[in-house]
Amino acid sequence: MHFDIFTLFPEVFTPYIAVSIIARARERGLAEIHLHNIRDWATDRHHVVDDEPYGGGGGMVMKPEPVFAAVESVLGSPPRAPVILLTPQGRLFTQAVARELAAFPRLALLCGRYEGVDERVRQHLVTDEISIGDYVLTGGELAALVVLDAVTRLLPGVLGDPDAPAKDSHANGLLEHPHYTRPPVFRGWEVPEVLRSGDHARIARWRHEQSLRRTWERRPDLLARAPLSEEDHALIARWEAERRADRG
Ligand code: ADE
Repeated sequence: MHFDIFTLFPEVFTPYIAVSIIARARERGLAEIHLHNIRDWATDRHHVVDDEPYGGGGGMVMKPEPVFAAVESVLGSPPRAPVILLTPQGRLFTQAVARELAAFPRLALLCGRYEGVDERVRQHLVTDEISIGDYVLTGGELAALVVLDAVTRLLPGVLGDPDAPAKDSHANGLLEHPHYTRPPVFRGWEVPEVLRSGDHARIARWRHEQSLRRTWERRPDLLARAPLSEEDHALIARWEAERRADRG
């Protein structure tokens, strides 16, 4: 995967992409990350990239010329990769969207700042708009890092265990089961017996049930869309009956 990141603050990305799984993916040639400072394409003496909004009101707006120049000089015109604007007005980023994006060979991530970008950038340059959640950040940089991270770990060969992405929270529409490591007893709190039993079928059943239970307790909204078996539905019905009984 080849990422082109367009931002006014490339230095925000440098430390994060230099560590852990992203760094290893880069070293192994699985992810290439190119940082482009939009300010380098501002042609005036002071490299101005923002201006006041037409119609008045507070805040500043990112000018279209440097953004178009940056993206088109790197990716051509029209750009030969999806150009994704990070904005709170975009479609909500989910694991399904991460999987969708991981299928492209190249992605451009465009980070807005100030009150936003000139509307002509959205209309005539951007091909997709993504929000990482219903809150407003100071700029698109953190959101671009979120997308970059979630997409990179899905690329073939990036994670040591090739089955790992399939086991993640959200991969099958459910939250993940709890994890334990040594010691078997910590401050008197024991690791569940089943996990130490060596009985892989029992462990798999326990994990699936925990995963279902957690999702039911914490994110019931996800259950409506998760692919559930008849057994899952029966379990949920039992928990719901127990809950009703507890409440009297
Ligand atoms: N820029 C500012 N807030 C954002 C958000 N929630 N998602 C993506 N980009 C943003």
